[in-house]
Amino acid sequence: MNSEAQKLYEEMKLHLANVVPDFELAYKAEIAVEINELKKKRNAVILGHNYMEPVLFYSVPDFKGDSLDLSRKAAQTDKDVVVFCGVRFMAETAKILNPNKTVLLPATKAGCSLAASITAEDVRNLKKKFPGVPVVTYVNTYADVKAESDICCTSSNAVAVVESLNTDTVIFLPDQYLASNVAKESGKHIIFPSLTPSGFSQAETSLLDVQMIGWHGRCEVHEKFTVKDIDTVRAQFPDVVILSHPECSPDVVNASDFSGSTNAMIQYVRESKAPHYLLLTECSMGDNVAAANPEKDMLRLCMVRCPHMNTITMEDTRDALKYNRYVIDIPEEIRIKAFQAVDRMIKIG
Ligand code: 13P
Ligand code: SF4
Repeated sequence: MNSEAQKLYEEMKLHLANVVPDFELAYKAEIAVEINELKKKRNAVILGHNYMEPVLFYSVPDFKGDSLDLSRKAAQTDKDVVVFCGVRFMAETAKILNPNKTVLLPATKAGCSLAASITAEDVRNLKKKFPGVPVVTYVNTYADVKAESDICCTSSNAVAVVESLNTDTVIFLPDQYLASNVAKESGKHIIFPSLTPSGFSQAETSLLDVQMIGWHGRCEVHEKFTVKDIDTVRAQFPDVVILSHPECSPDVVNASDFSGSTNAMIQYVRESKAPHYLLLTECSMGDNVAAANPEKDMLRLCMVRCPHMNTITMEDTRDALKYNRYVIDIPEEIRIKAFQAVDRMIKIG
């Protein structure tokens, strides 16, 4: 191992000695050295989502965080190349904000079940059905869907974004559970109009006392957590503190001790004193939080994993910079419209 790899290995060990076996750290430190050299050569910035595997999370990203945080970092960068260690919709958001920079996603697919749940055509149909009603779109969507929206939101600012519109009614897409959790928190009545062969069913589209119109998208990870899981864990560990992402069902959120974005959950564990925690979210984040809080016990509920976030590895990140892949491109007419929705969200603060 050369001196640079040795230095990185020591740094990674400081965080990960209790989470990752030593020989894995030594192997990944060598890859981290290659990544850092390529990063310098290409004048690149690496953004890493909180769900990245521990060795990646604690080595090469210049900035780490939740989707809102990383959108902000992407908007501020002066580097030539942005490597997004996250999923496609996040890399697309970086490109929307940086049309003249090269944005790379280290894996070909890295999708998201929420982004796949709605098309731009679906949004156009909703706008026809509910003319004049503003459209709030979760950032977990592709650029053409953002382009049909008035404003984007993430899990950390969804309530603030809805309230910023100051309207009686909003269309909130595409996450059914996030929308329901936001509706509950802001005291709004929500409906989920169902599509019939001839369009939306009439009964459900009468607006009367409706204040939010949602969609039926779901996160394939968070929808799997149940209240029974929570009850079972509490029976085994009575002093456990349970944190859930707002992409979980309202029942699960209600049965948890805290619900918030990935950043909010990280902060909550950091600032709390309880001995045991369970995060109802992608399992890798539990490892990252465990590494940052060695005196606290993180329980694992890792039977469901995000198959998309998990495709991003250190090797792929190195190869992204080495072979300039996989380049994110967005047609300019879509990008300009999507920019307005993303920029409006970022300006909310
Ligand atoms: P955050 O915005 O909380 O990081 O969530 C992104 C995500 O995809 C959660 O599954
Ligand atoms: Fe999408 Fe769910 Fe994976 Fe987040 S955890 S990227 S919402 S599929």
